[in-house]
Amino acid sequence: MKEFKVGPTFAGATAGKKGQKSGNHTLDVSPKKISEVKMTSTIRVSTGFSEFDRVLGQEEKAGIVPGSVILLSGDPGIGKSTILLQSAIHLSGVGKKILYVTGEESEAQVSMRAKRLSKKDLSKSNLYILATSNIDAALTHASNEDYNLVIIDSIQTMESGNVPGYAGSIPQVRHATGRLVSFAKGTGVPVMLIGHVTKEGMVAGPQMLSHMVDTVLYLEGEKMTGVRILRAIKNRFGDTSEVGIFGMEEYGLKEITDLSELFLGDTVSNPGSCVAVIQEGSRPILAEVQALTVSSNLPYPRRVANGIPEKRLELLLAILQKHARLPVDKFDVFVNVVGGFKITEPSADLAVCLAIASSLKAKQLGKIAAIGEVGLLGEIKKVLNLSKRVKEAEKFKFKTVTYESSKTLPALLAKLFV
Ligand code: TYD
Ligand code: MG
Repeated sequence: MKEFKVGPTFAGATAGKKGQKSGNHTLDVSPKKISEVKMTSTIRVSTGFSEFDRVLGQEEKAGIVPGSVILLSGDPGIGKSTILLQSAIHLSGVGKKILYVTGEESEAQVSMRAKRLSKKDLSKSNLYILATSNIDAALTHASNEDYNLVIIDSIQTMESGNVPGYAGSIPQVRHATGRLVSFAKGTGVPVMLIGHVTKEGMVAGPQMLSHMVDTVLYLEGEKMTGVRILRAIKNRFGDTSEVGIFGMEEYGLKEITDLSELFLGDTVSNPGSCVAVIQEGSRPILAEVQALTVSSNLPYPRRVANGIPEKRLELLLAILQKHARLPVDKFDVFVNVVGGFKITEPSADLAVCLAIASSLKAKQLGKIAAIGEVGLLGEIKKVLNLSKRVKEAEKFKFKTVTYESSKTLPALLAKLFV
């Protein structure tokens, strides 16, 4: 237990700007015509990763917006500190002055990591490390110098003596974030916060954090492949459908631009394999779907789905049995998406069906990419951005199968497996 004295300054301190909530409504603000509002410079600053920039904003306007507050969340050990430190190193290398406030690691730890990540001499670099968990101290230092970017690692470790509660508690987090937001808006210096926030429950950090900042990013990972996916959950300056893909390597994160190669196995010539073209953000990605069917004596044959929803597999099996008259009820069926990728969109339906049929008939499909949703009546449906997906498949020399090849699944199977 720890005792806190709640002084009279508390109400003013949490309001972000002093005096704003004092009830003394002064008239120093007035409405303006929208056309008369002065535009501040909106030249974005690159993070050094084009994948990161794209998540922050669209193609030509990618990068960090001046005066914006960006929250980067994700599981522990996923690489949040790494990616921001790498960006800080890049920015300090192009003449920017960066303040990296760390409340989690010591100066020595951060500097050791920076040396390892940059693999070069940082003696001329304008990257400043401040090891403190005191938000007041951090802001004082940030305001005294002309930094181009302030990084806070992490918001849950920041604490102010003016506010009751432990670091990480709701009043402390709200206070620290509020102060940082007014700092960013007041000075035009962008602020990046690291937050221990999970995508689902936002357990460690209250949801209100997301409301206070301009952009919420989430870094997630495929533990086995070292692949890291950066998503925007909220973005006041761009599209939230974009993702950035990275690989965690010995010397930090590296961007992966050719996604299809990553998720494509090299066994496409065996029976039981078919390629799907899925969409991540604005980009199509080729992913290999593998199926294995084994005759089963179980009253309820096994259905194991890895990378696609189990329910979707059951539904597709029912369609294959009813409409294509394949005896899938006598077989255990295993489906796997190569590379550990999770497919949630129905555009991979056709590839899953073809992979299963191919395994069942022990006939290989060859270099085919199947793009289509399969309906309950056995019909093949068109999917979003079909032409883009077809183009990507053709880039890798795949023949494509879509709703244009056949209207129904049975007709298509008859054509492919003569
Ligand atoms: P970190 O950025 O400290 O995670 P977070 O800040 O999200 O908690 O990343 C830690 C993990 O990243 C660590 O477990 C090992 C891995 N890693 C590498 O594989 N290579 C590297 O060069 C670095 C710096 C980290
Ligand atoms: Mg960290």
